[in-house]
Amino acid sequence: MAGRGGAFALVALCMLELALLHGAGAGEPLVPAMFVFGDSTMDVGNNNQLPDCKPECRADYPQYGVDHPSHAPTGRFSNGYNLADQIAQLLGFKESPPAFLSLPAGGIIPHMKDGINFASGGSGLQNQTGDHCGGVYSMADQLEEFKLVVMMMGNGSYDLISRSLFFISVGSNDLFEYADAKNPPPNRNDTAFLKCLVDSYRTYLQELYALGARKFSIVSPSLVGCCPSQRAAALEHHNDFDEFHCFRPANNLSKQLYTLLASTLQDLGGDLDDMHYSICDSAGMAEAVFATGGAKGHSMSATAFFNAVTCGDIYFNNVVLPFLADLVVDTACCAGPGPFGVGLCNTSATLCPSRADFLFWDSFHPTEYASGLAASALFNDPGEFVRPINVGQLVAL
Ligand SMILES: *[C@@H]1O[C@H](CO)[C@@H](O)[C@H](O)[C@H]1NC(C)=O
Ligand SMILES: *[C@@H]1O[C@H](CO)[C@@H](O)[C@H](O)[C@H]1NC(C)=O
Ligand SMILES: *[C@@H]1O[C@H](CO)[C@@H](O)[C@H](O)[C@H]1NC(C)=O
Ligand SMILES: *[C@@H]1O[C@H](CO)[C@@H](O)[C@H](O)[C@H]1NC(C)=O
Ligand SMILES: *[C@@H]1O[C@H](CO)[C@@H](O)[C@H](O)[C@H]1NC(C)=O
Repeated sequence: MAGRGGAFALVALCMLELALLHGAGAGEPLVPAMFVFGDSTMDVGNNNQLPDCKPECRADYPQYGVDHPSHAPTGRFSNGYNLADQIAQLLGFKESPPAFLSLPAGGIIPHMKDGINFASGGSGLQNQTGDHCGGVYSMADQLEEFKLVVMMMGNGSYDLISRSLFFISVGSNDLFEYADAKNPPPNRNDTAFLKCLVDSYRTYLQELYALGARKFSIVSPSLVGCCPSQRAAALEHHNDFDEFHCFRPANNLSKQLYTLLASTLQDLGGDLDDMHYSICDSAGMAEAVFATGGAKGHSMSATAFFNAVTCGDIYFNNVVLPFLADLVVDTACCAGPGPFGVGLCNTSATLCPSRADFLFWDSFHPTEYASGLAASALFNDPGEFVRPINVGQLVAL
């Protein structure tokens, strides 16, 4: 059998080749700047700067970053680069723009020309989401900061902002907290909750539009019930597993949220002049992945996984798939003591030897390998999961 390390290197090589084939080549990035908002799927170090934020909502300790070029924790909730970096790389940047909170006051305006990342792990669409972290930047806070920066720039910002990419991934934490609530009120109403999330999302997008944003890439929450923490939550909720052996109520909410978000965006696109968007149905993509999974959803063939994420090989047809062991889809690579490897990804955790054999890096987040495939899909998908256009088409407008 080929060494696992060798297989991982091959995948890395393929991803590089893909970036060259389908993303920006050498030279100018495809957009002047990229502005990033959202949660831990996108955070590149904002939470490192929040002194009251608890360890479960930070990624500034080992074993985070073990596969990052620095081999050190950076605040990314990944073994290496995250989705914000990987989209930035497909656009021709080196990595995500810097974390807003890491910039000195005098560094903020100069950085606007290539972009800033405002995302904060643990945060959500609702202001109170992430309160358990001990202080994170909600979407409302992130927008507030962005607005201040734009006002400081004055009239010079309009052209830059209208040509830049606004990349947003948020909502998962709202769903987690709601689905896994320890003491839910008896008269809880899912429809009203989801409507509230979508209304907030609409307001944030309208605010960005009013500040000049015209190109939005929206990543709707994935099947959040399938991450290890939620599979463990299912055990605590009387084994409430769905057909993928994931936490049923969380997945139910994810699927409904995508539908609501997609129609909200369609409405906004009709109402707001020159507003363009691309929305990724991450829940649908995950469903395609898990539907091909093995018994009890523990693992699946790497080829099936790859084909599901990439819609067959419509746009990956030049890539030779390396041999890989079955992909583990239910357990964290950086495994804590709990069921499904739930626990902190700290130095007490057990690290899987080959990160490309796992879908999940820790209890909540994908491996660099898995988010890299998602990034390629966001950029190139011909309409199966990314609609009405993909990010490659969005930035070319
Ligand atoms: C959320 O927070 C923002 C800014 O901190 C505030 O302006 C807004 O009113 C809050 N929204 C709600 C629903 O409390
Ligand atoms: C900004 O530009 C617009 C037109 O381009 C102009 O009408 C407006 O007065 C300018 N505002 C400021 C504060 O310079
Ligand atoms: C749940 O909320 C929706 C939307 O606000 C409302 O139309 C519906 O009547 C509510 N259902 C119940 C059972 O209260
Ligand atoms: C979610 O659950 C409700 C009942 O709780 C059901 O009516 C609905 O069909 C489910 N939706 C999805 C997308 O699974
Ligand atoms: C790592 O986290 C676990 C909880 O998952 C905790 O029990 C343990 O003490 C932590 N180890 C270190 C070295 O901080």
